[in-house]
Amino acid sequence: MNQTISFFLSVVSLFAIVYLYIRLKHLAYLHKKSLTLYDDLKEMNKNLQKDINTIITSLPAPAMIINTNGIIISANEEAKKITENNQLEYHSYIVSFKQPEFIEAIQQIQKNKKGIVKEIGLKNRLYLASFIPLINNEVIFIFFKDITDKKEIEKVKKELISNMSHELKTPLTVIQGYIDTLYDEVNSPVAKQHLDTVKKHTERLTNIVNDLLKLSELEEVRIEFQTVDIKDIIESVSKIFEKKISQKGLTLKFDIENVYIEGDPIKIEELLINLLDNATRYTEKGEIHIKTKKEDNYLIISVRDTGIGIPEHCLPRIFERFYVVDKSRSRETGGTGLGLAIVKHIVMLHNGTIDVKISLGTGTEFIISLPVKQSGS
Ligand SMILES: Nc1ncnc2c1ncn2[C@@H]1O[C@H](COP(=O)(O)OP(=O)(O)OP(=O)(O)O)[C@@H](O)[C@H]1O
Ligand SMILES: [Mg+2]
Repeated sequence: MNQTISFFLSVVSLFAIVYLYIRLKHLAYLHKKSLTLYDDLKEMNKNLQKDINTIITSLPAPAMIINTNGIIISANEEAKKITENNQLEYHSYIVSFKQPEFIEAIQQIQKNKKGIVKEIGLKNRLYLASFIPLINNEVIFIFFKDITDKKEIEKVKKELISNMSHELKTPLTVIQGYIDTLYDEVNSPVAKQHLDTVKKHTERLTNIVNDLLKLSELEEVRIEFQTVDIKDIIESVSKIFEKKISQKGLTLKFDIENVYIEGDPIKIEELLINLLDNATRYTEKGEIHIKTKKEDNYLIISVRDTGIGIPEHCLPRIFERFYVVDKSRSRETGGTGLGLAIVKHIVMLHNGTIDVKISLGTGTEFIISLPVKQSGS
């Protein structure tokens, strides 16, 4: 009996030993494989770094790479030219870039792991710096674009537009006044017809000048924030368009959550007037739907219509001044392409964002998101 038990135990032990041997062999194999994989990865990483260095040195604009410890591990000659200190590599970025915007950008990326773009002044020039986290957030790639001349031209252009608009306003008012006087004085129907045409074009010109003045005003203005009752504003703006909307056979729908925000009521009103004007002007049938709701700490305003929509390729330019999708139609309808530029400006003054969703043929939706409370207030 004892012999049978000990024979049985020996067989079990033998199996256990064989099993353990196979497992160990397998583990050794896996370990070896992972070591080779690790070496391969290290090699790949090295090659990647080499490739990135080659890209950086061959870039025609200032560019560099910073590691997670804030050390500049690669910088091209152009980058050295834009700093006071031309020894960038292997130094902490704080030695060469003391600008608070720069330090803030690096800290923001280290925290949020998301790319950002900032305007940064260096050696009397203004740069648009793009900060991009790469290789699993192990390094930050920074690329600088000199925008000094562009900004200067923009400034001159803005001043010129603002001055010209002011200069045009007075003679236009005089012309308008005389058109009305002449209208009462002439009897000939042909002359009246000519005057009608002159009046129509003068009004158009006056609208352009007024829009331009509004835009240049917005560029200078800082907002005095106060409590804005969005429901109130939507009600009063809708009244302005009620007649035109019903004349066109359109329906105006509302879905309003009353949210109070800090902002400028006159400017928010202007923003809504422009969006509703577009929705009415560019919609022939169907509806215009205005919605507001609170999402986190933002007021979301959506103005959606079932109109002609905007072709996708036009979207990147839609907020530019004087940009219109269809020039011949605009000549007919009187659009000058300033409305959305004004809207965008107002949104920016309120630290908000604007988005547009389109589906050609079935309408357009503008979605605005405005912080309910301004930070620091
Ligand atoms: N809701 C919309 N549906 C379709 N197209 C639109 C809509 N809103 C804007 N657009 C397009 O975008 C262009 C720019 O709009 P914007 O409001 O800036 O100028 P505008 O309406 O032409 O002139 P105005 O300066 O009188 O507002 C318009 O010409 C139009 O083609
Ligand atoms: Mg418009």
